[in-house]
Amino acid sequence: MFKSGTGYTRLGVNVDHVATIRQARGGQNPDPVEAAVLAELAGCDGITIHLREDRRHIQDRDLAILKRTAKTRLNLEMAATQDMIKIALDIKPHTVTLVPERREELTTEGGLEVAMNMDYLKKVTSLLIDAEIKVSLFVDPDLDQIKASHRVGANAVEIHTGKYAEAKTKARAEEEYGKIVNAAKVAQKLKLEVIAGHGLDYHNVRAIVEIPEIVEVNIGHSIVSRAVLVGMERAVREMKMAMGGLL
Ligand code: PXP
Repeated sequence: MFKSGTGYTRLGVNVDHVATIRQARGGQNPDPVEAAVLAELAGCDGITIHLREDRRHIQDRDLAILKRTAKTRLNLEMAATQDMIKIALDIKPHTVTLVPERREELTTEGGLEVAMNMDYLKKVTSLLIDAEIKVSLFVDPDLDQIKASHRVGANAVEIHTGKYAEAKTKARAEEEYGKIVNAAKVAQKLKLEVIAGHGLDYHNVRAIVEIPEIVEVNIGHSIVSRAVLVGMERAVREMKMAMGGLL
């Protein structure tokens, strides 16, 4: 979809859950690297992976190979720990998205607490930016967190769309959507690039893409779930269509 001023909404495909299926048997298949090739052939604009501390899905080997083979942009989601920062500085993905991480969670549950950790996140952000890695912070649609992201010097924010996606009633979804709209406006005013992600699917993505400030969405679970049934290329093409883009 094309929008005034900002152009086209990029689709980053998160291939973590291809690795989840592989890890269920501890073998080599299915390979998230092969899934990334197919997603790119189908027209996605970036590949996203989350290297978790417990290595439950994506492995260091996947990150190293994707750095060499991804033809679009490689976005590494990671916790802001010393170990992960070392890995990022060594591999140098196009983008690092800093996320909170708890071992017991099923998936990333909330946004990063930027406002309470400004000094540390400022240091981490400048270390990564000095290494020519773009830094995005995954935050709730909360104006304090957006303003803090600007103050720590991040290039972008990824607005957490989980509460919008999981809302059980139309009224709750509208309330959460309003917060995303406001957060996106404030972020753009502060010259942060505005990305969105978490829980987006073939039904709820269009409203997010229609927010003019949002230039990229990162989507994983819904695409990989569909790909299991219809194939990766078709699943990615159908997502581009759901976003309103023409291929
Ligand atoms: N963006 C971030 C920062 C995430 O942590 C995740 C989940 O790994 C996603 C996007 C993708 O979420 P989903 O798999 O629900 O599409």
